[in-house]
Amino acid sequence: MKYNKKELLKTKIEHIDIKKFNAIPLIDSFDRMAFQSRNLARSCKIYEKMLNDKDCVIILCLAGSLVSAGLKKIIIELIKNNMIDVIVSTGAIVVDQDFFEGLGFNHYKGFVSADDNQLRELMIDRIYDTFIDEKDLRVCDMTTKKIADSMKPGAYSSREFINKMGEYLEKNGKAESFVHEAYIKDIPIFCPAFSDSSAGFGLVFHQSEKRDKSIAIDSVKDFRELTEIKVNSKDTGLLMIGGGVPKNFVQDTVVAADILGVDAPMHKYAIQLTVADERDGALSGSTLKEANSWGKVDSGLEQMVYGEATVIFPLLASYAYHKKSWKNRKEKRFNKIFKEQS
Ligand SMILES: NC(=O)c1ccc[n+]([C@@H]2O[C@H](COP(=O)([O-])OP(=O)(O)OC[C@H]3O[C@@H](n4cnc5c(N)ncnc54)[C@H](O)[C@@H]3O)[C@@H](O)[C@H]2O)c1
Repeated sequence: MKYNKKELLKTKIEHIDIKKFNAIPLIDSFDRMAFQSRNLARSCKIYEKMLNDKDCVIILCLAGSLVSAGLKKIIIELIKNNMIDVIVSTGAIVVDQDFFEGLGFNHYKGFVSADDNQLRELMIDRIYDTFIDEKDLRVCDMTTKKIADSMKPGAYSSREFINKMGEYLEKNGKAESFVHEAYIKDIPIFCPAFSDSSAGFGLVFHQSEKRDKSIAIDSVKDFRELTEIKVNSKDTGLLMIGGGVPKNFVQDTVVAADILGVDAPMHKYAIQLTVADERDGALSGSTLKEANSWGKVDSGLEQMVYGEATVIFPLLASYAYHKKSWKNRKEKRFNKIFKEQS
């Protein structure tokens, strides 16, 4: 069946609002059950402990395609209500998905049986059952170039660059964005593989044009800054949605601190929601218990939950939001501890 572009990009993905439903009774029931329902209930309790621990800095890790799938508003609520202090993410989530929406573009409800050749002809990109207008993505690529062009030449951490993206949205934003919300709350966002995203295209263009007057993203600086946060925090807790590079990057700060001669404790709390299991020995499914053997995550207050994030992240976040423990948390504003270059 042939569709035109307008027909295919008709229905926007809407972001779930955790304020509109209270998951506490469901999670309490899950706690009396077995398998992943009980694991999810335990992870909710561990998150509660993190939120009630005055000495705990909470780091949210993001991988996969979470914002395009309708989870953006959850991340915004976690930021607004001091339920997280730092974000480590893939570039796709930060740039292609969140910043993209902040510029006023949308993700659309699609379908898996779509004719991908036809989508290619129409310049529509597909993420499983979601469609994106590639023309809009190109504007996003060029906006990152525009931001890079406006900066003093030099090496910046992804955190510094993403802060500039937040500043850009402050002036030019057209819709809600967690990059913008983090900018307002001085919450650092790190992307260890920043160029592997829409920003990469803009930055390649920027460097080819500006040559020795260009900026560069310094991933070592990212690691140093994140390690600095770890070293300056009494305790840390990880809330990981998916696996990928953010999971390892944040866990490794304990080892980096050790290399610097600082006796930083392992991450005290850790939760991972993932579809990956441990059989292939790969990172995304490696258990948090296993991370203990590497000296990265403490044992006892860690929980793996096996399930798809669009289903289980809203439940965990709604539980924590409605429990209201976040009301006693103070904002950390870690961005303020780093001196901006430009
Ligand atoms: N995801 C995209 O659409 C996309 C687009 C452009 C660039 N990239 C780039 O590709 C690189 C790799 O991305 P990645 O780390 O997100 O890889 P990924 O999408 O493979 O996710 C990593 C792991 O996280 C888990 N995961 C992902 N989505 C999940 C979900 N919905 N529920 C539960 N678990 C889930 C899975 O175990 C998966 O193996 C990054 O640098 C990213 O910026 C990704």
